[in-house]
Amino acid sequence: MQINYQFAFIILMIMVLLASCSQEEKKYQIGVSQCSDDIWRDKQNSELQIGAYFHDNVELRFAAAYDSDERQIQQIDSLVATGIDLLIVAPNQVSTISPAIDRAYDKGIPVIVFERKTNTKKYTAYMGADNYEMGHLMGEYVATRLNERGRIIEVMGLKGSSPAIERHNGFREAIAQHPGIQVVATLQGDWTEPTAYNMVKQWLDKNKGDGKIDLVFGMNDRTAMGARKAFEEAGGALPLFCGIDGLPGENGGIRLVQDSLLDASYIYPTHGDQLIQLAVDILEGRPYEKETKLMSALVTQENARVLLMESEEIMRQSRNLEQLHEKASKYLDQLGNQRTLIFVALAAIFLLLALLVGIYMYYLQRARIQDERTKMEREQLDFYTQVSHELRTPLTLIQGPLDQLLRTNDFRDASDNARELFTIVRRNTHHLTGLVNKMLDAQVGTHSPEMSSAEVDAITVSQPIAVPTEVNGQDEDAPTVLIVDDNADIRAYLRSILQGKYHLLEAEDGQRGLELAREQVPDLIVSDVMMPVMNGLEFCQQVKKDDISSHIPVILLTARALERHQIEGYESGADAYITKPFSPELLLVRIDNLLQSRHQLKDLWGMKPATAAVTTPEPTVTAPAPIEDAFIARFKQMVEEHLADSNLSVEDLAASMGLSRVQLYRKVKALTGSTPVDLLRKARLAQAQSLLQGSTLSVSEIAYKVGFASPSYFTKCYKDEFGTVPGDARKSS
Ligand code: FRU
Repeated sequence: MQINYQFAFIILMIMVLLASCSQEEKKYQIGVSQCSDDIWRDKQNSELQIGAYFHDNVELRFAAAYDSDERQIQQIDSLVATGIDLLIVAPNQVSTISPAIDRAYDKGIPVIVFERKTNTKKYTAYMGADNYEMGHLMGEYVATRLNERGRIIEVMGLKGSSPAIERHNGFREAIAQHPGIQVVATLQGDWTEPTAYNMVKQWLDKNKGDGKIDLVFGMNDRTAMGARKAFEEAGGALPLFCGIDGLPGENGGIRLVQDSLLDASYIYPTHGDQLIQLAVDILEGRPYEKETKLMSALVTQENARVLLMESEEIMRQSRNLEQLHEKASKYLDQLGNQRTLIFVALAAIFLLLALLVGIYMYYLQRARIQDERTKMEREQLDFYTQVSHELRTPLTLIQGPLDQLLRTNDFRDASDNARELFTIVRRNTHHLTGLVNKMLDAQVGTHSPEMSSAEVDAITVSQPIAVPTEVNGQDEDAPTVLIVDDNADIRAYLRSILQGKYHLLEAEDGQRGLELAREQVPDLIVSDVMMPVMNGLEFCQQVKKDDISSHIPVILLTARALERHQIEGYESGADAYITKPFSPELLLVRIDNLLQSRHQLKDLWGMKPATAAVTTPEPTVTAPAPIEDAFIARFKQMVEEHLADSNLSVEDLAASMGLSRVQLYRKVKALTGSTPVDLLRKARLAQAQSLLQGSTLSVSEIAYKVGFASPSYFTKCYKDEFGTVPGDARKSS
């Protein structure tokens, strides 16, 4: 479940990250619908673009209709369809484009009509120069230029386009004020040079010889230049040519005036940057002028040079600006790429971290589950061990005595039926033992190292139990076995098996067992494991730790049958591990083996037999016996130090070692097989032997020196030990 939460968290973080990556500033889409495509439109478009650079949130979409109404209508519709936020439109003609503009406006898109007009009222703002005024001023200029006299031709712009109509009206009204000026022809152009050329050429062809023309007014500079071309081709004196637009640049009107190809022009302002500002003001809800009139000026021979310089300077600045923008956008692109890269790297790092955290949490959880499972299994196992212990103990106490009974003479006289019934009981007890074992095995999943009931059965049936014969009275030589078990019945049962062969001591828990082991120093200990106060493992450890008891073999007799339990038992220092229910003879054999295999230091003083001493006399009294045990080393040192003291008693020796007489007796007996008294005597005799062979002292002197109270007793002991009298040793030396 926790893993699922983490997964959801990771997904959420990825989504947030991706969202932050893709979140770009909303940009206004401004559609620009141009009626034509020429140098005037080019200039305006680039000004619009530069204007847009100053607004990060503006994007322009240009369309040029190439003087075609249908194309412009279609372009406006498709701009609207792409979802523009504002439309800037220079309508080709006054009436034809209006429906498309209306459609855009009705969709809620703000519309700026610029430079040319329409007959619809559905627009948001208008921006442009006053074409009537322009035509009028040009009319005034022409009249002045011709000194109120002369014949002129007017070449119109596209029919139906508002600047053509207004410029014509203004021009004609101004000319009408000057009766000396005669407009001999008004030719229909369409703002393009070729049309103007054709129209003028046709007129000239038709009206050859009708009189000199003094001036041609073309409604834009291209028209004027088309007319000039026709006149130049026709030959003869050229009239003056006036146009409108007054553009800067190579083929612009200002240079044409400067080069005297045109007599005058009129700057027709483009002001694209101003147009964009108006658009942004509208889009961002700032106040704006509904109608903006752009200012304009006449270009003549007088001011052309200055205007050219200025306009070229402006153009140069524009180009610089353009270049700067290009550089900036290149850097911005790079920055954008780097940002994307950083985002991707961060996302990857984040994902990796999330993954690592996920994996870590997963393993943590798995380990926790595993721990819990192990704990549960252990608890379960402990429970089963406990239960099996509870079952094994009474089983032992049924099975063992029953086996014993069936093999004793007492039972020989029982009826066949009684024997049969007992056999059934015994078989089923073994069967029950088998079931207990199986139950425990099923829990552990391994096989208990304990013998199967069949094996136990085989032993108990095939080998009649050797019931120990009673040891007469308190036989000093019978080893002492300490039984430690909290179950009185088990103790009684063990007693029944061991009594007669061993002296027995009993304790009901480890603590009491330890006290007895120290006080009495038994030859062997049989102990249960699960006991109150101090358990068998702890007890065993303590026994092995203590100098007094460390040598005592310990048999753990327990219901804890698992391998793990046995390992624990041996780790605590146990010498044997027998599981319940047990076979009595197995226990007896084990006890016997352990007692037999005790490593006893028999020849503590490195004594030589007298005969050997005769052939190879060697002063070996002080030759060190192999020291296996620190205790024995200490004992030896004590004996040697007090050897000469004929009054030295075992109690004194024990006291000097900080022990009781019993403790010393049993410990020494267990480790050497001899009693302390024997060892003391042997030490004296060994030294006496050495002195007999290596000194000139008399036998009596030697006897006293090695601590014998009387020389005769010394001689007796010497003879008992070596088979010869001391005098013989003296003779041979
Ligand atoms: C450019 C142009 C100019 C003229 C204006 C009139 O397309 O033809 O030359 O002054 O349009 O709208």
